[in-house]
Amino acid sequence: MQNLETTYMGLKLKNPLILGSSSLSDNVDGVKKAEDAGFAAVVLKSIFEEQIAFDVNADIKSVDGFHARNDYYDVVSSITTERYLDKYLDLVNKAKKAVNIPVIASINCTSESAWLEYAKLFQESGADALELNYYIMPSNAKITGAEIEKLYFDVAKLTRDTISLPLSIKMPWHFTSIANVVKNYSQMGFDGIVMFNHFFRPDIDINKVKICADRLIQPKGEYSETLRWTALMSGEIKADICSSTGIRDSETVIKMLLAGAKAVQLTSVVYKEGYTVASKITKEIEAWMKEHNYSSIKDFDGILAQERIADPEKWERAQYMKANRF
Ligand SMILES: Cc1cc2nc3c(=O)[nH]c(=O)nc-3n(C[C@H](O)[C@H](O)[C@H](O)COP(=O)(O)O)c2cc1C
Repeated sequence: MQNLETTYMGLKLKNPLILGSSSLSDNVDGVKKAEDAGFAAVVLKSIFEEQIAFDVNADIKSVDGFHARNDYYDVVSSITTERYLDKYLDLVNKAKKAVNIPVIASINCTSESAWLEYAKLFQESGADALELNYYIMPSNAKITGAEIEKLYFDVAKLTRDTISLPLSIKMPWHFTSIANVVKNYSQMGFDGIVMFNHFFRPDIDINKVKICADRLIQPKGEYSETLRWTALMSGEIKADICSSTGIRDSETVIKMLLAGAKAVQLTSVVYKEGYTVASKITKEIEAWMKEHNYSSIKDFDGILAQERIADPEKWERAQYMKANRF
């Protein structure tokens, strides 16, 4: 019998599969289904400060005579915010009671004060860990990359210094120096780095000549950058890497583990194939381990990471040249 146990951010997982944050994990039933299907942990759907602000404005518009009573804003704002936070805290609470696997809360804020407020709240909520889903759209040409990175680092450091819960940050991969950013997070004391997030993207419907949403569920798994960066960074940092984006099958999970991931997150494939894809993937990993005489994940985790191979430049190759043949 192969042992699929792993440790991610100090959490003991029965296997490396984590259900990624999405509407699949925004209700207790989904979290329970994930556990029943064999997932080792769940990241809950993020709570978004921006969504709360949007709803505050909608609620305010519905208050009769608001224009005459500006003091309504504070009242409506605090009621709506409290309602949202209570609902999310209730989800964490009920999910924790319903399952035995770790439940990771996820927050996405825009203001520094909210990052801290939410992080503190969810630390007290009973969640096993916290994932920061932080993204700044770099569309303002007046702001330099260094200034944007400072915003990321300031929030990350403040949050890390404030809470003691295992903490991860889910990263975009559009940094000029991903390695530097990842190393900074690790040095700040982050326990996990989730590489990478895949964001909502707009598209154009050429029949209606209108802007529309890109396909939410990506049909194909584009995992190459996730794999490359997992391999490049896993041996360099103290924090655990959780690979994410483009992972659709056991083969790709095995690749991420060989590159040094401690765990992986699956989302689109669960939308496509259902929660039970987790048990199919774990069985296939077990069969592969047996075939290769690996009795536990520790036997092969990270053996193809850049730090551990004789020809480390292979992971850095980006140009189509004849040099450095594989
Ligand atoms: C419908 C949908 C909703 C999502 N919601 C969130 C979210 O609330 N927070 C978050 O951090 N990521 C969210 N994601 C991103 C996923 O967690 C994941 O990072 C992304 O889909 C890439 O992984 P995949 O290739 O396995 O789908 C969402 C993805 C989808 C498809």
